[in-house]
Amino acid sequence: MQVSYQAPSNIALVKYWGKRDRQIPMNPSVSMTLAECYTETKLTLLEKTSDSSFVEFLFDGVENNSFAQRIEKYLDALSDKLDWIEKYSFKIESKNSFPHSAGIASSASAFAALASCLEDIDAKLHKRTFDYRKASFLARLGSGSASRSIQGKFMLWGHDPHITNSSNEYAIALDECHEVFENMKDAILIISSAQKKVGSSVGHNLMNGHLFKELRYQQARDNFNDMIQALKIGDLDAFGNILEAEALTLHALMMTSHPSFILMEPQSLNVINKVRQFRKETGIPLYFTLDAGPNVHLLYPDHFADKVEDFIKKELLLFCEEDRVIYDHIGMGTQRK
Ligand code: DP6
Repeated sequence: MQVSYQAPSNIALVKYWGKRDRQIPMNPSVSMTLAECYTETKLTLLEKTSDSSFVEFLFDGVENNSFAQRIEKYLDALSDKLDWIEKYSFKIESKNSFPHSAGIASSASAFAALASCLEDIDAKLHKRTFDYRKASFLARLGSGSASRSIQGKFMLWGHDPHITNSSNEYAIALDECHEVFENMKDAILIISSAQKKVGSSVGHNLMNGHLFKELRYQQARDNFNDMIQALKIGDLDAFGNILEAEALTLHALMMTSHPSFILMEPQSLNVINKVRQFRKETGIPLYFTLDAGPNVHLLYPDHFADKVEDFIKKELLLFCEEDRVIYDHIGMGTQRK
């Protein structure tokens, strides 16, 4: 059996930072699904020949043993969720639409694409239709943020008492969003393509003994509900305020953890200052966010695209590594190929 899926990356608007047990988030998060930054994965089930190594992983056609080991561990741990997994060997061929060295986290799109392949096979073997929640659930077990790359424009992951059907186990799509957010753009400014200084699991662990952890989880829960409200009523100001506060809080948490990490570069701060100045001068709702690295995502409604992209070219490219910007936009999730 062979199956292929394409799954996008996503950008967190309210961040997941801190986890427990088996990939359970310490707070609920909200993300926007991307479209152009994606992973395409082809999975072939083969007859099992050896127990010791049952995954062959090719990235861009080249064998990659370190990722093969991570996937092997992941598949091994799924034997309690997928009753057929122990019976096969796997050939997995993956490629990303974005350059490998762009400093963009690829675990979200990679695990979303792989989990979609697994769910497709599970559905076929059990004679049922593809279940997006199960795909999100399987993706989460590979990488938490991957749970949010399966379906829908804005995704919610993590239980919240105010949101019906919300769950720590899988992400759900936001049921309605205001038209101003329907065609959002995300320009990803590549400040540095160097490898991440802190792996995400190490990063999440830093929250365990963190002095500010309870306050942070409370803030994240509030921001989660306020962000959903802003997306529903079309409040761009509230959206932008929460978006930027979340990014800066994430970095502040890393700066104040033990050990401490400074993941922004001077150019990241230059971009942030310029964006705030541009917003003040033009009134255009252009807002920034960052994940656990120096690259800056700029979010804006599509009808401001010309003005924003002109500003990026004239004033921000100089802060980017080799003038690199990836122009992305809101997407819909995983797709069968
Ligand atoms: C800062 O999903 O990469 O991007 O579950 O350990 O794979 P693991 O972590 P990961 O963490 C993402 C952290 C973040 C914020 C976010 O995407 O919500």
